[in-house]
Amino acid sequence: MISEPSVSENALGRQPGEPVQSAITYEKIPTHIYADAKDASRAVAREIAALIREKQQKGQQCVLGLATGSSPKTVYAELIRQHREEGLSFRNVVSFNLDEYYPMEPDSLQSYVRFMKEQLFDHVDIPEGNYFIPDGTVAPNKVLEFSRAYEEKIQSYGGLDFQLLGIGGNGHIGFNEPGSLINSHTRLMMLDHSTRAAAAGDFGGLAQTPKKAITMGVAPILSAKRIVLLAWGERKAPVIRAALEGTVTEQIPASYLQTHPNALFVIDQAAASDLTRMQTPWLVDTVEWDKQMVKKAVTYLSRTLGKPILKLTNKDYNDNGMSDLLAQVGQAYDLNIDVFNQLQHTITGWPGGKPNADDTNRPERAQPARKRCLIFSPHPDDDIISMGGTFQRLHDQGHEVHVGYQTSGNIAVADDEALRFADFVVDFNDKFGIDSPEATRIFRDAAAFLREKKGSEMDTEEVRYVKGLIRKGEAKATCRFVGIPVENAHFLNMPFYETGKVEKKPLGEEDIQAVMDVIREVKPHQIYAAGDLADPHGTHKVCLDAIFEAVRRLKNEDFMKDCWVWLYRGAWAEWDIHEIEMAVPMSPDQLMRKRLGIFKHQSQKDGVVYQGSDSREFWQRAEERNRATASLYNQLGLAEYEAMEAFVRWKY
Ligand code: F6R
Repeated sequence: MISEPSVSENALGRQPGEPVQSAITYEKIPTHIYADAKDASRAVAREIAALIREKQQKGQQCVLGLATGSSPKTVYAELIRQHREEGLSFRNVVSFNLDEYYPMEPDSLQSYVRFMKEQLFDHVDIPEGNYFIPDGTVAPNKVLEFSRAYEEKIQSYGGLDFQLLGIGGNGHIGFNEPGSLINSHTRLMMLDHSTRAAAAGDFGGLAQTPKKAITMGVAPILSAKRIVLLAWGERKAPVIRAALEGTVTEQIPASYLQTHPNALFVIDQAAASDLTRMQTPWLVDTVEWDKQMVKKAVTYLSRTLGKPILKLTNKDYNDNGMSDLLAQVGQAYDLNIDVFNQLQHTITGWPGGKPNADDTNRPERAQPARKRCLIFSPHPDDDIISMGGTFQRLHDQGHEVHVGYQTSGNIAVADDEALRFADFVVDFNDKFGIDSPEATRIFRDAAAFLREKKGSEMDTEEVRYVKGLIRKGEAKATCRFVGIPVENAHFLNMPFYETGKVEKKPLGEEDIQAVMDVIREVKPHQIYAAGDLADPHGTHKVCLDAIFEAVRRLKNEDFMKDCWVWLYRGAWAEWDIHEIEMAVPMSPDQLMRKRLGIFKHQSQKDGVVYQGSDSREFWQRAEERNRATASLYNQLGLAEYEAMEAFVRWKY
């Protein structure tokens, strides 16, 4: 059970806002872990502001190395706030950015010049000539000269006082991709495939994404007097562990920071989740052996030793740093049975509760036998991708199932799809004698626009609408396929999403109201929501925040007294085994049926606009993940199922 989406205290009893201190550390660089990116960014901004002020008092310039990407945005926002509200001046600041795509025009939508102006420079008093960003317009035969001059300029200001960094999923810092040497200098780099895939969304697809960038080298980064690296979200967790706990290697350029005398990692709980102190806190410090911690430790031991839970011995516990747990409980035998039973009780083929059955040890209540279920789907396909098997069962077992499609998902539709559908409407009208000059005009305009469209250009409102309709049609097709009436599909079109760009607006009142309205209308006994925290800036997180806020506001209404909220995970990650509170098994046939349901989303097949670095199609990711969950249960010694969908209950 989790009580909040952003955990404010961790296993080591830390107070909110305070970085974690641990007894033994496996991390080779000082690391501060915060509840969320906001808290962490405030601390980093405070350090930068203090440095700027200290230099001001001494009448000196403050030389900052700055980064782009999603991670530093919250730091820049806090610096702007301090400038506006607390009089922080940037007049003595000189800054050097890490990198720029190549080639790149400074006024282009994706240029880092534009990014820095929009995110920081235009909102503070830094003098115009005081910031430097690698020039994406220099001629190819001048790049070397430019790069040398860039480093010389940094030196002419006395070197970097402070360097802010993000980290790529592959461990890059700046655009020093894996393979970059510790003594590398500022240069033109070929971008790694994973870096391009991560940026492809901003450029309207991989084909339009630059292949090169000019980046400050590892050597000038490491010569900064102070370095702070930021990372938010679960997707960064594996690389954060590798950089902090692994060996120094050119395969993870961020690991070079282990050689720096004054580096700090500032990360949120999600990015920290793979660290030893999080994975196995009992190996780091004394822990309180509550039910969750025991479950975590026992499942960990069973997985690590490759032994089913019921076969773990006293010696296994003692040999693996868990003798204090044993001392508390007595015997491995009792511990094993207790955790085995807990896991067993999470498995149910009755996600809406089993009518007329004793529900003491079942994840869901037996009553009411026929429930109203409301599945929230952030994009139009998350319902079927992430919980398609459960969706189908709820319907087959007689529950009244509704789906709240939270966003239109329009930006993920390719241009030629939009054109194909607009063309269809014109031909359809033609064939059946429907005289609609308006439809023909929309089609002509859209066709002309899409033909001329530059990679990064925003779609017209009409094209976006057509794209939204395509996804709406696909969602309805899934509902028909599962068997629920189309009236039970509710399209919320939450306004925060409708920017036409990858960058979304912050969650607003209208968004929350849209979620509250559908909850009020359905009066559900069960709400299913995407509890996907992998990307803290992503749509799923905003959609989840809207649901949490709506539920909090409605919780005193009568109909909410009987409403349980279940969280499923999006396409990217699964809950940890010790967290799972309901696991719904699927047979091979049921899994195949789920695949067919996912196929209804044709616009999201065969190479999608936002593929990310995972080249598998959504149905493949979903199947592999559901199979992996089932196989994990089996490895722990429970029954062998084909696949499983997993849920965690949010108690509000
Ligand atoms: C940006 C840069 C990159 C990013 C990294 C992480 O100037 O040099 O190294 O910091 O790719 O990007 P985000 O923060 O978007 O995950």
